[in-house]
Amino acid sequence: MRRRLGRECLYVPSCRLGLYVALRHWCAPGGRVLMSPVNDDVILFVVLAAGLRPVQAPLRARDGSIDPAGLPESGWRGLSAVLTTNLYGNPDPAPELRARCDALGIPLIEDAAHAIGSEVAGRPVGAFGDASVFSLSKHVGAQSGGFLALADPGLRTELSRARDALLEPSRLTAELAYALRPYAEAGVRGLRLVRAARAALRLLGREER
Ligand SMILES: Cc1ncc(COP(=O)(O)O)c(C=O)c1O
Repeated sequence: MRRRLGRECLYVPSCRLGLYVALRHWCAPGGRVLMSPVNDDVILFVVLAAGLRPVQAPLRARDGSIDPAGLPESGWRGLSAVLTTNLYGNPDPAPELRARCDALGIPLIEDAAHAIGSEVAGRPVGAFGDASVFSLSKHVGAQSGGFLALADPGLRTELSRARDALLEPSRLTAELAYALRPYAEAGVRGLRLVRAARAALRLLGREER
């Protein structure tokens, strides 16, 4: 992929983690990110987890890609970044979005999870953004994994440190709880205690999506 994209690539355990690292690097907390409303909801939650505010982009009726012409000038103002989707491998108009981002001085981040083999304007998807993220689990039977491709190779060390810091277990007990949780959940389901467990979590203020 480094050869194909002509970019430095950094392995990440998932496209989501690569996107989180990129958003945290390029966007100050509270920033507004223009993104498609038609996407896997995990991406919406990655943007929220990075402390950012998703802004829904208009879409082209023909193919569901982001429609830059459909966003009024006022909508571009105050954005911190633009995030593409390339839904089902169908590319977003990366050259237009790149030009817009350059004019505004904001980063373009490409989510190429679905688009490892897609091209737009004769270049591979992922070769336009300041950063682009790929998911290996969707393409090469790898089950998991992904990578973050960088326009600026000088950022490799800094971003690999950010990735490693995120992967460092904060506490052994927290890691253990995380590892055991699926078994505990299966037990609760097996014993038909789902409602009671939900009510208990709600009472404790620990309910999660
Ligand atoms: C558009 C899109 N981007 C990113 C992801 C996340 O990929 P990963 O499972 O590698 O984190 C998904 C699906 O889960 C997706 O549909």
